[in-house]
Parts: sequence; C-alpha cells; structure tokens
Amino acid sequence: MSVNKEVKRITTHTMQEMKQKGVKISMLTAYDYSMAKIIDDAGIDIILVGDSASNVMAGHETTLPITLDQMIYHASSVIRAVNRSFVVVDLPFGSYQGDSKQALSSSIRIMKESGAHGVKLEGGQEVGESVKRILTAGVPVMGHLGLTPQSIYKFGTYTVRAKEEEEANRLIEDAKYLESLGCFALVLEKIPADLAKKVADELTIPVIGIGAGNGVDGQVLVTHDLLGITKEFKPRFLRRYEDLYGKMKDAFESYIRDVKSGDFPNEEEQY
Ligand code: KIV
Repeated sequence: MSVNKEVKRITTHTMQEMKQKGVKISMLTAYDYSMAKIIDDAGIDIILVGDSASNVMAGHETTLPITLDQMIYHASSVIRAVNRSFVVVDLPFGSYQGDSKQALSSSIRIMKESGAHGVKLEGGQEVGESVKRILTAGVPVMGHLGLTPQSIYKFGTYTVRAKEEEEANRLIEDAKYLESLGCFALVLEKIPADLAKKVADELTIPVIGIGAGNGVDGQVLVTHDLLGITKEFKPRFLRRYEDLYGKMKDAFESYIRDVKSGDFPNEEEQY
C-alpha cells in the first residue's frame, strides 16, 4: 500500500500506526499552493515545507539565508492547499539555535501564523532543551540527523555522514534521545543504509530517509529534484520521475515562437 488514500487526515497517530503495520510513509517537499495541491491530491502522507526553499525557490547556495518570516509565508501557502497530508515546517537556521525560548517562540509563530501541523529541526543532544520546550507547548516535533544542511560550513561538504563508528554511535544515541523526548518522527539524511536500518529497527517512532536506503519506515525527496526541475542536482540517491526542466523549456519555447509568429492568440482565443 503506497498511497494510503482511505485515511481522511494524516496525524502523528496515523504515522505511528503505519510504522507498526509496516506501511511505508511517503513525504515530499512543497513551498507553494499550486504544488502542494497536486501533491496532497496524489495522496502523499507528509508535506515538508523544507528550508530547501532557500535553494529551490530563492536560488541560494545553502539553506542558511531563509528567514522565519519567509518560511511562514511558504507554509501558509501550502496549508491553504492541503486537505489530507500532515504538514511539517522546518525551523530555519537562526530561529532556534539561540536557546529553547527562541525555539519555542519560533515554533509558535509557525503554528499560529501558518496553520502547520508540526515543526522539524536539525540536531541531537544540542537541541534537546529546545525540543522539550516545543513539545511541552503541544507542538509535534520531527528530528533530523545525519547530513544536516544548516551545519554545512561545519561539515565542509555534502558527502555521506556517519561512515565512521564514532559518528555512527553518536547518531544512534541522538536518535534514541530524540525519541525519548517525544519526537513523533525522525529524518535521516545521507547516511549508510545499514546504519539507517539499525536506527529504524531500534526506534518505535517512524524514521524517514533521504539517501538512507530502503530499511527505514518512509522516504522523503525534494519535489523539484524528483520532477527534474533542478537538473544539475544529481546525487546517487535521487530517482527522477520526470524531466520537467526539458518539458517546461519546450513549452516556453513553443509559446515564444507562437507569440513572435503571431500564431497566438488565434480566432478562438480572443473576444
Ligand atoms: O529542507 C528539506 O527539504 C529537508 C529534506 C531534504 C529532508 O530537510
């Protein structure tokens, strides 16, 4: 069962049940109303308003520049389109690293101003106090470990994380810690498949992977990558389902041709 369409509204409870029953969870990013409407209609379980909007929507090299106000704008556009999916919003860089009070007030702004259903933040032990405080306010929290793009300048590269035993053990500890705090799910990005499977097997909450193999409870991709709109981005883990860059370019070229030649608009296309 891939689309789980009979469920009216996905909740954290639904996702927990899916993990227990071995039903894989599907998750994609969206940043605007039109895309979110199609994704929700297709039957996706979770929509992530990712801070990858910084790359995909705004053309920045990293996820660091996007602001809390901009995330709230994207999230509120997505929420207006959604009937069924659970919508999670990334806490952007600089909106939660200060202290737990800042993390809580950023989360409350996201929930109040966009109508989202939960937040995601990057990190393990170091964000523990923030996770606790956000959860105390009744806001569902999704963790994110492995390659955490907000720390790209600490890592230096976007290569696979936790290949060495020490980092792998720390990741397992962090995953268990986030679960013990009450996170409802965890994203694992770009880590060895065996390690991701071990984490998914040891945790009772759903583990969603991106570049983390098939032994986890669900998968997430950036929608523009899946659709082939971001054509230069070609990591090994990405499966492209379309070449929309090419198809859209063809359509734009046809339109330009028709305008220039005077073919558009024709008799039926005018008043
Ligand atoms: O911002 C994002 O799109 C993400 C996914 C890659 C998990 O965090």
